[in-house]
Amino acid sequence: MIEFILNNKLVRTDKPSGTILLDFIRENEKLYGTKIGCREGDCGACTVLVGKLLEGEIQYKSVVSCLTPLGNIAGKHVVTIEGINGDTLSPVQSAFIDENATQCGFCTPGFVVSLTGFSLSGKKSNADAIGSIAGNICRCTGYKSIERAVEIIVEKLKGQKSGDSLQWLIDNQFVPAYFKEIPRRLKMINPVKDHDDTHKIIGGGTDLYVQKPDETAETNLNFITTQNQQAKIVIQEEKCVIDAECTVTDLLQSEVLDYIIPNLEKYFKLVSSEQIRNMGTLAGNIVNASPIGDLSILFLAFYSELIIIDRTGNKKQIPLKEFYKGYKNIELADGEIVESVQFNIPAKGFKFNFEKVSKRTHLDIASVNTAIYLDVEKGVIKDIRITAGGVAPIPLLLVKTSGFLKGKKLNPENIKEVSGILYNEISPISDIRGSREYKKLLLKQLFYQHFITLFPEMFDVKKWL
Ligand code: FES
Ligand code: FES
Repeated sequence: MIEFILNNKLVRTDKPSGTILLDFIRENEKLYGTKIGCREGDCGACTVLVGKLLEGEIQYKSVVSCLTPLGNIAGKHVVTIEGINGDTLSPVQSAFIDENATQCGFCTPGFVVSLTGFSLSGKKSNADAIGSIAGNICRCTGYKSIERAVEIIVEKLKGQKSGDSLQWLIDNQFVPAYFKEIPRRLKMINPVKDHDDTHKIIGGGTDLYVQKPDETAETNLNFITTQNQQAKIVIQEEKCVIDAECTVTDLLQSEVLDYIIPNLEKYFKLVSSEQIRNMGTLAGNIVNASPIGDLSILFLAFYSELIIIDRTGNKKQIPLKEFYKGYKNIELADGEIVESVQFNIPAKGFKFNFEKVSKRTHLDIASVNTAIYLDVEKGVIKDIRITAGGVAPIPLLLVKTSGFLKGKKLNPENIKEVSGILYNEISPISDIRGSREYKKLLLKQLFYQHFITLFPEMFDVKKWL
């Protein structure tokens, strides 16, 4: 039995825990405001908010309901467009009407829900507001009118001074008054989930529901996400240890990671749209073994290790670079799961950069991605790890390229010289994301871009290339 609150109503269902939330909302609850678009997490038409109780406080995040299993919303508050409507239009809805930001209207509920999630987040910048709808597509408006509506919403939110933020949002009709009672009502729900070792294990579901939607939706699953506690990212014995269930948003908002990795926000915002970042987990991205997984490429450059646990509680440790044995073939036996990911705290003054090229900046799977970890002392490369995705059957650590540069002087000549080794170390295939030749050239350019970004004085693009 799965229990949660849908808008203002307590729901109990014995549907399989893999049932897709979007279908449950529309078919069981007859709430048709949440639209079906792509069913792959790309369009945002099915966006809902999920509120999770953490230490007595409720935090709302936008998610795409087409990739959300019921099991992952047990004990939580789900808000659809119908749950935002009060007796009058909310300021988000009014701004859309005033600025003609809706035409056929198919995408509008998704935009309104995403922006209502933004209003509940406590953020107040225009950039954050636009970021909150990066995962919503509109085929009619051309977006300018939507941007104008966003400006109005942001201005209105700036009127909120200190004090009870939720009460202000209720008083100003951003959300209905019933929101106030949700934390108390959620505490009364016991979100116990059945655990059966024969069930498939799932994290956020953002890949599995794209690959095998029907098969997954009709089954019971085991979930790695916990209900009412925050997944942890901590420093232990000179290592950064990250719970497997951390979402990309957890990584992005982590003070620990922000302290360790420069420009953290810039890199992690490239991973996907806000909705997907709120759902996709670190372990999911790694275990999925996509040759182009952004997090695999990023954490490979840190020489990360996986802590793997089996059904009896036995643990083992394996370097991430040894985890990938071939295309979608990983070092994980039946019954084993990734419990955490860890890496040594980098040397002081180390440099890091991540580059990604994809058709849609904030939502797409990369054509090619690459990361670099670099430790330079007195002009000499003391340590270097370059990783690349989309150029081999697995997320690749460029061992020969990195090995050539280790111990050499950091200068444009050496970086240019090594590009021949890099070319021979990769074996991309032609597919919908680009031809083999294009991907080879692209990686070479992104490899140069690492140095242009990290050492702009030494690698002046106008003189160098
Ligand atoms: Fe397109 Fe869900 S239907 S993101
Ligand atoms: Fe038609 Fe956005 S108004 S898709």
